[in-house]
Amino acid sequence: MRWSERQVAMLQEMGIRVWNTPSQGDAVALAEAQPEVETGTSRPASAPAAPSPASVAEPAGVAVRGPRATGVDAMDWPALRDAVAGCTACKLCSGRTQTVFGVGNPQAHWMVVGEAPGEQEDRQGEPFVGKSGQLLDSMLRALGLTRGEAEPARQVFIANTLKCRPPGNRNPEPDELAQCEPFLIRQIELVKPRMILAMGRFAVQSLLRSNEPVGRLRGRVHQYQGVPLVVTYHPAYLLRNPEDKARAWDDLCLAVEQLERTTTAAA
Ligand code: URA
Repeated sequence: MRWSERQVAMLQEMGIRVWNTPSQGDAVALAEAQPEVETGTSRPASAPAAPSPASVAEPAGVAVRGPRATGVDAMDWPALRDAVAGCTACKLCSGRTQTVFGVGNPQAHWMVVGEAPGEQEDRQGEPFVGKSGQLLDSMLRALGLTRGEAEPARQVFIANTLKCRPPGNRNPEPDELAQCEPFLIRQIELVKPRMILAMGRFAVQSLLRSNEPVGRLRGRVHQYQGVPLVVTYHPAYLLRNPEDKARAWDDLCLAVEQLERTTTAAA
C-alpha cells in the first residue's frame, strides 16, 4: 500500500513508522511469538467468560446467539435507537447518564466495534470521544476514513458491545454482554458493513465467540455473518502499549487491502 505525505505525517503522529511495516506474514509471526492479554478500556484482573465460545473459523450465526430482546431482530433503525434508549434489561441502566447507541452513517461501508462507553461517552452520548477516541480517529483518518460526513466508502459506523457505561469503567460482565448483544447484532444487520474492525477482546468475544487473546487473532481476516472482520487492539490498550501501534497499523492495512480486493473482484 502506498501512503501520501499527509498520511505518512499522520502515522508519524501516531508513533507509527510506515517504512517499518512488516508483511502480514511477519506480523502474524511476531504476534504469535508474543501472545498477550489485551485488555481494552478497563484494566481487568480476569477475563469474564464469553457467552458461548465457538470456532473462530466459522462465521457466528445469529440463530445460535444468546437471548434476544423481544423483536429486536425485526427493528428498523429508529425503532432500534428507541429500544436502546429505553433499555432496562440489565443493572447498567441505573448508573447511566444516557445510552450510547453508536455514531456514523448507517450506510457506512466500515464498522468499528469497541467495548463500552466510558465516562465521557456516557456524558456526551457518543462512543469513543475520550483519549482512546482521539487515537481511533487518527487511525481512521490515516486510512482516509471518518465517522463524519463523507461518501459511504469512507465512512465508519462506530458501536460498542455495551450501550451503557459500566461503573468505574470496569469490564463488561457476561450477563450485560448477553443482554446488549441483540442490539449490536441488529446494528450490524442494518448497516451491512463491508468490513468490521473488532477492537479489543470484548468485541472479539462477542462477534467471534472466541476467548483467544487479540494477539493471536489479529493479522488475518475472519468472517462474521459473511462480512470480513479484522481483529485489532483496542485504542485504550494502544495508549498503554504504544509499542503495539505498528501491529495495529498492519491490521488496518490488512482490512483496507481485503476490502480493495473484494471490491475489485465484485466490479
Ligand atoms: N472505549 C470503548 O470501547 N468504547 C468507547 O466508546 C469508549 C472507550
